[in-house]
Amino acid sequence: MSRRVALALAVLVAAGGAAPPGHAQHRMPEHGQHRMPEPAQGQHHTPEGWTFGLPKGEPAKGRQAFAKFECYKCHEVKGETFPAAQDRENVGPELSMMGPMHDAEYFAESIVNPTKVIDPGKGYAAKDGSSKMPSFNDSMTVQELVDLVAYLKSLRPPGGASGHTQH
Ligand code: HEC
Repeated sequence: MSRRVALALAVLVAAGGAAPPGHAQHRMPEHGQHRMPEPAQGQHHTPEGWTFGLPKGEPAKGRQAFAKFECYKCHEVKGETFPAAQDRENVGPELSMMGPMHDAEYFAESIVNPTKVIDPGKGYAAKDGSSKMPSFNDSMTVQELVDLVAYLKSLRPPGGASGHTQH
């Protein structure tokens, strides 16, 4: 076998993943010179381009969770009829227009980590800079979170009018 063919084969094998034992010495010489440090055994690398992904939830169950956790106490949802809506303090933003605006994962973050992103200048933050939205992390199941996100994603402003531009 010519050296060129052997090199091409070695590159193919290397690209395909596991090289059979004994073939490592056929690798292109440059690999040896610029070798990245080998990860410690058992250590894994996150795949390139990876993003966090939630499973699909059920909007109807998410609506029940919205009522159970009394999210309506701070959030108006136009077109919905949640109990005690008349006592609402509108501490947080109206949510019906948000369905088309955000990814599911953004909604999930806004529930499990509300302080991470706060719209400035709207009185949403407490004096110490944290969100006025409480944490539900001790009482909410992951499934409830997933369904809540599906519910929020399903929301549309009544009449289809959105005061916000999509991004
Ligand atoms: C005590 C009031 C309060 C309660 C209860 C509350 N929120 Fe909030 N929420 C806020 C405030 C204030 C903000 C704006 C600050 C922020 O982004 O954290 C907010 C923000 C949000 C946002 C993000 C909006 C955006 O533009 O980023 C979502 C989604 C949301 N809340 C969903 C919920 C859900 C679901 C529940 C119930 C599990 C809930 N909230 C309960 C006060 C509340």
